[in-house]
Amino acid sequence: MSRDVVIAGFGTVGRAVARAISVSAPDKVRIVGVAKSTGCLFDASGLDVSDLLARHEAGTLQEAPVWCEWDVPHLLDEARASVLMDATPTDITTGEPGLTNILHGIGLGMDVVAATKGPFVAAFTRVMEAAREKGVEVRYEATVAGAVPVFSMARSCMRGDRVLSVDGILNGTSNYILSKMEETGASFDLILAKAQELGYAEADPTADVEGGDAAAKLVILANTFFGGRWSYEDVARVGISAVTPEALELARDEGFTIKLLASASPEGLEVRPQLVPRGSALAVPGVLNAVRFRMERAKELVLIGRGAGGDETAAAMLNDLLTLPERA
Ligand SMILES: NC(=O)c1ccc[n+]([C@@H]2O[C@H](COP(=O)([O-])OP(=O)(O)OC[C@H]3O[C@@H](n4cnc5c(N)ncnc54)[C@H](OP(=O)(O)O)[C@@H]3O)[C@@H](O)[C@H]2O)c1
Repeated sequence: MSRDVVIAGFGTVGRAVARAISVSAPDKVRIVGVAKSTGCLFDASGLDVSDLLARHEAGTLQEAPVWCEWDVPHLLDEARASVLMDATPTDITTGEPGLTNILHGIGLGMDVVAATKGPFVAAFTRVMEAAREKGVEVRYEATVAGAVPVFSMARSCMRGDRVLSVDGILNGTSNYILSKMEETGASFDLILAKAQELGYAEADPTADVEGGDAAAKLVILANTFFGGRWSYEDVARVGISAVTPEALELARDEGFTIKLLASASPEGLEVRPQLVPRGSALAVPGVLNAVRFRMERAKELVLIGRGAGGDETAAAMLNDLLTLPERA
């Protein structure tokens, strides 16, 4: 059975998703709509992904014959697709624009696959209750640790157990900075500037280095595993800007490294630099992410992988899409 999908957001992730679908699932998925901030492309018989990508490169998307001046809810009304894939920018305070898109899609009886964190930080219970009422699925693997299959593993492999706590490295940029500081002995400011030059850190690095991005992901983990009551304000948060090369050296002499660890349990949530034993599974280098579950029966499970990148995020979203339940 082929599914019709709408992709909201045609940036790094949205384009990678379109490419992944066209390469890996052309017989199973038909992309009928793609939305940008300025309008959308719609063709009920299926959009030509190669043409869209070529037009994106050439800056001529708006000249395509299938271009419409609709916002995402309007596109969803017209498209009557079965799945919304949301890869719009994220606002963790309002959840927008993803929240409106997702609630609208759910209202139309669509399943949802999302990469945007905002809706699951700002309105987790609202989204999940709306989905339950409509009998649709909402998947959000890509929101936490990119390609690392945290929620998929929980769904398929952890049903016979109970999560006691979860912690890990949820922000690749800050992990890259700490790793490079340790490796070179250079200061935070110097490595940050280098990371910005290489494109590993944003021009405004605050969300990465002050722990906000990791905190948002932690809230999504907590909402999934410890009831949907957690909000961003619940996270006690300290970033990495005060970590010095001297502190990293001292830690190394004692057999430790310093990581920006995000930790959640039913007792509370925190993000802060912590000593991690050098041989620990959480002592991952560079931009890698790691997520560790402490379980009642299985004890400890650790997943390690890439937490960002268009292709990596698309892999998680495509898996979410291809494992949705079949609908009549
Ligand atoms: N990049 C990653 O590695 C990664 C990893 C995991 C999760 N995510 C999440 O995935 C989402 C997308 O990330 P990205 O890196 O692809 O961002 P991006 O490159 O900035 O792309 C965002 C896209 O969304 C479109 N957009 C903005 N406002 C919109 C609106 N109101 N309606 C419809 N489309 C709108 C933009 O339109 P224009 O083209 O007109 O600007 C653009 O096409 C974010 O929420 C991000 O946090 C990203």
